Amino acid sequence: MNFRSDNEAPVNARIMEAIIAANNGFEESYGYDSYTNKLQQEMQNLFGCWCDVIPLTTGTSANSLAMAISTPSYGSLLCYETAHMMTDECGAPEFYSGGAKLIGINGKNGKIDIKLLDKHLAGVGVHGEHESLVSAISLTQSTEAGTLYSMDEIKQIKAIKEKYGLFLHMDGSRIANAVAATGCGIAQMTWKSGVDLLSFGATKNGAMIAEALVVFNPKIGKEIKRMRKRAGQLISKMRFVSAQLLAYLEDNLWLDLAAHANKQAQSLYRALQSTHEFIYPVQANEVFLRLNPKDIIQLQKLGFEFHVWPGSADIIRLVFSHATQSKHVVQLIEALKKP
Ligand SMILES: Cc1ncc(COP(=O)(O)O)c(C=O)c1O
Repeated sequence: MNFRSDNEAPVNARIMEAIIAANNGFEESYGYDSYTNKLQQEMQNLFGCWCDVIPLTTGTSANSLAMAISTPSYGSLLCYETAHMMTDECGAPEFYSGGAKLIGINGKNGKIDIKLLDKHLAGVGVHGEHESLVSAISLTQSTEAGTLYSMDEIKQIKAIKEKYGLFLHMDGSRIANAVAATGCGIAQMTWKSGVDLLSFGATKNGAMIAEALVVFNPKIGKEIKRMRKRAGQLISKMRFVSAQLLAYLEDNLWLDLAAHANKQAQSLYRALQSTHEFIYPVQANEVFLRLNPKDIIQLQKLGFEFHVWPGSADIIRLVFSHATQSKHVVQLIEALKKP
């Protein structure tokens, strides 16, 4: 019974079928295939605007390319202090951008504190050319803590990015969970709220290997394709990545899969909210729970797999995915209810 990570979940059957269906004869390589062409159109329909869609194989490459295109080598990008870009990408964003700097901003519930962000930016510039040029802000939606930026918070960040003339990136590795949880349209959550670049994730929510960088702002998209090649991400058989993304979008599969994952997290939260300590509000598909270390061992013995959060022996992370079975959640709730 796996609650360790949505990265460990299987591929959704419809996406697997789409990969097999795409394996039919020859198609042009390096993104000039009919699937990738269609994907551009479908993404523009989804967002209701012009956008440049760059299919990729990892979320790390999407985030790193986003930083490289928005932040010069002498610049910096502000993100949450333990954002994936900051702590889990082995310096790839800095590497892709040729040495630009990531600066972490603190906050509660896995989110940038907007007042601190504004305060940080107000203090920028006093060291002149001795400091790096702040160029962009990155938000993660949904966050690594399983929380969400509200639309109001995103709008406040938009106002800040406009005030300081910055680009706004969204790490949407789990954007589907955010859209499914809020019911707010994806256009509203992204470009209509000032997002210039979106890392659009699919792998964690049912795809095999498929992510995309979506560029909404034509001012920064110009050399993205060369950068993708330099990053080793110009995929020769791109049709197989694009076919996954097409199946993911078709009939709102992406939202159905994410809604299922969110619903599992909510059912655990509702059953245990009065008896257990939840570290963060449960708003998407990740749950952090405080447990007695002895109970953690007991749960593991019963066959439940999850991460004990590094650095805290009494906090576990449970991740619910498109493939989480309701009966396993019921079993987990029962096990957690036992004294
Ligand atoms: C929030 C977030 N962003 C980006 C990534 C990077 O994705 P990948 O492992 O495909 O590089 C992850 C991976 O877990 C993630 O959780």
